[in-house]
Amino acid sequence: MEKTYHVAVVGATGAVGAKMIEMLETSSLPIESVKLLASKRSKGKKLAFKNKLLTVEELVPDSFKGIDIALFSAGGSISKKFAPEAVKRGAVVVDNTSAFRMDPEVPLVVPEVNESALHSHHGIIANPNCSTIQMMVALDPIRQAYGLDRIIVSTYQAVSGAGMSAIKELKEQLQDMLDGKQPEDLTANILPCGSDAKHYPLAFNALPQIDVFSDEDYTYEEWKMVNETKKIMSDNQIKVAATCVRIPVLQGHSESIYIEVKDSSATVRSIQDLLLQAPGVVLQDDPSEQIYPQALNSVNKKETFVGRIRRDLDVNNGFHMWVVSDNLLKGAAWNSVQIAESLHRLGLVRVN
Ligand code: A2P
Repeated sequence: MEKTYHVAVVGATGAVGAKMIEMLETSSLPIESVKLLASKRSKGKKLAFKNKLLTVEELVPDSFKGIDIALFSAGGSISKKFAPEAVKRGAVVVDNTSAFRMDPEVPLVVPEVNESALHSHHGIIANPNCSTIQMMVALDPIRQAYGLDRIIVSTYQAVSGAGMSAIKELKEQLQDMLDGKQPEDLTANILPCGSDAKHYPLAFNALPQIDVFSDEDYTYEEWKMVNETKKIMSDNQIKVAATCVRIPVLQGHSESIYIEVKDSSATVRSIQDLLLQAPGVVLQDDPSEQIYPQALNSVNKKETFVGRIRRDLDVNNGFHMWVVSDNLLKGAAWNSVQIAESLHRLGLVRVN
């Protein structure tokens, strides 16, 4: 008989949690049951899964009794505290937070790129940062064919990456502005970063801060892109720099990416041909027809969209491109469920 799994979603009431439930509904994973977990505040709330209403339960260590696969997206501190509890009770954890990403014992996985890293898991698998994932899907085929020397990326990130409360804050600010309020009278308590001292409105704005500032005046989000790229590509020599910007888009991260390849035989055409065949990539690149990826068109799609591929005007091996994906799906919920599907296919889920 085929194995069937008891699956838990931690943070089921959140922006990513809601999408995890959606992705599980259509997943090829053989699911026996789904348990929805969140904070005490959400206890008793009903959420639909495959036309059935499930009751949200309060997360406690024993929530994981009998669970085979636990998908976590309730913030780093919850993962740090509860992921080991889940593993202790026999579950394999796919964690969408940054809690374990740089732990050398924890595989950091984008299935299209480094699925085989799953073989070394000890119970926890980390889902990379949303901006890193889509960049890896687009760049790994190029790295494999031509080698990658350097990446410089600027992101244009949607507000849903900061959770439900940030979405609500932006919508209220937009309405207030349309109703005639002045920017200085807008309420801002969440963005650019809930835990930082100052908050600024995002409505009709662009904020060059995602997460708090860290070494060399780069933000944590920017460091995540640097460090996670090196880990996923298993290449400590690759040069990476990022500038991460929040823009007033609800769903879908966009990235302007500049790369320098090692092999000078690469051309725009050969890179386009590679990406046409690449798993998880949709090439949308025809300037003559004004065809290029757009955040709005990426919403609720699992793929990463690539376009505007062009040569740098001064550097021989340099290329520019525009890469877009749904941050809640490939950037979070879909990549997590895809990891669970890979674990199943590779026989790496321990069944309770
Ligand atoms: P709740 O809705 O009960 O607060 P988002 O990223 O959209 O802000 O969502 C965060 C998710 O993490 C929500 O599902 C939220 O549940 C959950 N969460 C926050 N704090 C806790 C906690 N202490 N225990 C369990 N889940 C939590």
